[in-house]
Amino acid sequence: MDISPEAQSLLLAATDHNLPTLRSLLKSQTPNVQDPTTLRTPLHLAIASFENKSISSEEDATTNGHTNGSNGIADELSLPPIEKATKTLELLLQNGAIWNSLDTNNETPGCIAYRLGLTPLYEVMVDAGVRAELLFGRLDGYMALDDDDEDEEEEEEGEEGDVIDITVDEQKQSTEEEEEAPELVSTDQTPLDKATEEAIPVTSDVYLSSTLSIDDDKILDEDKNGVMMSWESHIMSLTVQNLLPEPLQTGPKVLNIGYGMGIIDSYFQSSTPPPSSHHIIEAHPQILQKLSTSEISKREGVVIHSGRWQEVLPKLVNDGDITFDAIYFDTFAEDYSQLKLFFTEYVIALLNPEGKFSFFNGLGADRQIAYDVYKKVVDIDLLEAGLETEWIEVAVDSKKMEGDGEWKGVRRKYWDLEKYWLPVSRFIG
Ligand SMILES: C[S@@+](CC[C@H](N)C(=O)[O-])C[C@H]1O[C@@H](n2cnc3c(N)ncnc32)[C@H](O)[C@@H]1O
Repeated sequence: MDISPEAQSLLLAATDHNLPTLRSLLKSQTPNVQDPTTLRTPLHLAIASFENKSISSEEDATTNGHTNGSNGIADELSLPPIEKATKTLELLLQNGAIWNSLDTNNETPGCIAYRLGLTPLYEVMVDAGVRAELLFGRLDGYMALDDDDEDEEEEEEGEEGDVIDITVDEQKQSTEEEEEAPELVSTDQTPLDKATEEAIPVTSDVYLSSTLSIDDDKILDEDKNGVMMSWESHIMSLTVQNLLPEPLQTGPKVLNIGYGMGIIDSYFQSSTPPPSSHHIIEAHPQILQKLSTSEISKREGVVIHSGRWQEVLPKLVNDGDITFDAIYFDTFAEDYSQLKLFFTEYVIALLNPEGKFSFFNGLGADRQIAYDVYKKVVDIDLLEAGLETEWIEVAVDSKKMEGDGEWKGVRRKYWDLEKYWLPVSRFIG
């Protein structure tokens, strides 16, 4: 595939952080041109140009506070490299550059910045991702509303929509094609063995009617996707410690969505004193069967709800007076829209004023930038729902997991990061 000389110049100007040339070229060229060999975009190249350079401490020092010149283009040309690169990224993004396109190395521009330790550039790319994802979230809602609207309204909204411009369409398409909105426990991740494994996205309906293989250390679905694995135990333990910090005065009232291996429910039960009321919602028949014969099911105060939380919770809310001190959410094969629905509709209705809410934060966990973008997106959405969130850093030894063969027999790794951010939300104020 050949590209035009103008597109070629654009790629070069991005590599050189040549802002005046870029501005002029962007009047007629899309910022989403790709180098035919590497598939790198101007954003990739603006960051990758540091690949074989080291930034001297002198240049580094000047990155702080050296932006107050007033001599226009001349000043711009003499900016320190990182500042020029930052401005280059910002210019490209303002002109509609896609934040998350992949090159042949399977890297987004932000992945390159992360790999090279270029924090200011990485942050520009994370913020671009957050803006794009928030916008798509809003637009999805808008479009869903549109579907039922009268033609007349559609026309009006269509006009408004036009203001958002082609970039949104381009970006939306890119997001769908290249990196779907991550599922809570993503199943469309980098294959362990790229040569043999293809991504098979799992829907909730398919999962709930599939036959699971249940071992002591993991649960897999029919396609060998990891539903739950024992390496998450320390995350579950820390989650309970943060949701129910001891000493507790009285047995807390807790609600858990998704039993899985029963790990978090066991930790809830070992709090002192144990829960006075412990509700568990589970939808998969095999897991329910296991739960019904478990020790936990015999404990005082344990109430098991069979079915999808989407069907169980409206009844629980309508039946009246029940609220909880701690709520935990960890399902499988559901996307972010379901988590958001859960905290906007049900946490609000079911959490005590002083209560705490947490969830398994596995959004985008196969790629650092996706994880960082979704952490910010969820934080903003939680805030909009009236919940402020503390994020607790938890080390995950993913290298050791690899060495121990933790992922053996699992279709794909749904976790590939060194750090887990544990969310603990409570009502604002
Ligand atoms: C990752 S596991 C939960 C693991 C659990 N936190 C633990 O500590 O073992 C997810 C569980 O959610 C259940 N699940 C998935 N979708 C559900 C839904 N819509 N309603 C209720 N449970 C669901 C799955 O069957 C599975 O048992």
